[in-house]
Amino acid sequence: MAALPNISDIREMQAWSDHARRQGKRIVMVPTMGFLHEGHLSLVRQGRKEGDCLVVSIFANPAQFAPSEDFGSYPRDLERDVRLLMEERVDLLFNPTAEDMYPRGYQTYVDVEQVSRPLCGAHRAGHFRGVATVVLKLFHIVRPHAAMFGLKDYQQVQVIRRMSEDLNLDVEIVACPTVRASDGLAMSSRNHYLEPAEREAARCLQSALGKAEALVRGGETLAERIREAVVEEISRHPPARLEYADLCDPKELQPVEEVKGPTLLALCAWVGKARLIDNRVLAGKEP
Ligand code: PAF
Repeated sequence: MAALPNISDIREMQAWSDHARRQGKRIVMVPTMGFLHEGHLSLVRQGRKEGDCLVVSIFANPAQFAPSEDFGSYPRDLERDVRLLMEERVDLLFNPTAEDMYPRGYQTYVDVEQVSRPLCGAHRAGHFRGVATVVLKLFHIVRPHAAMFGLKDYQQVQVIRRMSEDLNLDVEIVACPTVRASDGLAMSSRNHYLEPAEREAARCLQSALGKAEALVRGGETLAERIREAVVEEISRHPPARLEYADLCDPKELQPVEEVKGPTLLALCAWVGKARLIDNRVLAGKEP
């Protein structure tokens, strides 16, 4: 198998994209932080259908981790990632260095004000500021026509959509369904932290979402009752520990008291060292 073309220099990446654009190619990018799993690969496969040139970026972005978080221990395995991307016949890997992305004196950040605040934003100060900043930078460097994101990170997708709209970015944001392992756990690089007994407990995120959905199907509309059922389900599965379970409108992510139409139920629980998130749109589809 031929080696995977790889660029880490920012100017070189921009020149590559300019050349592809001049040739009339549609560039699709899949931004990642590496340690690829089936969730990423499904974005790659879908991305392949969306354009002519498929670029995957691997950059563990320090700006989206608080000092107390797991940036230092975030799983990395570039060799394996490259192998997987070659198997998917990706056209180019872009893997810049942190020094090039955030050189000395760096001071410009993007704050998507409202959509960033609830859910994970309320528990991870500065996280979405870091995400929005790096995604905007990646868009300026890779210059894609379309970019692929997974709906496991539902709030991230909404933050990026809002940023793209507010800043008039000419990039189509393509959101793809969550990919799950055979035990129902949403694919995440952080699943790697789970010991076998923790992995068993982690299934409660999926079962809690299922219970909530069953309540809504049965006619329950009060957000508080649905939330209580979720809290109860998670509490029955130690060591899982709920961080939040919130019902909100699926676009602006503002809390709702009643399920009157499509409503996002977003969950976050800690299981051992792993902070896991999952979500489901109740009573309708993702907008
Ligand atoms: O979802 C991720 O892996 C990251 O948040 C992203 C979008 C690559 C930005 O660093």
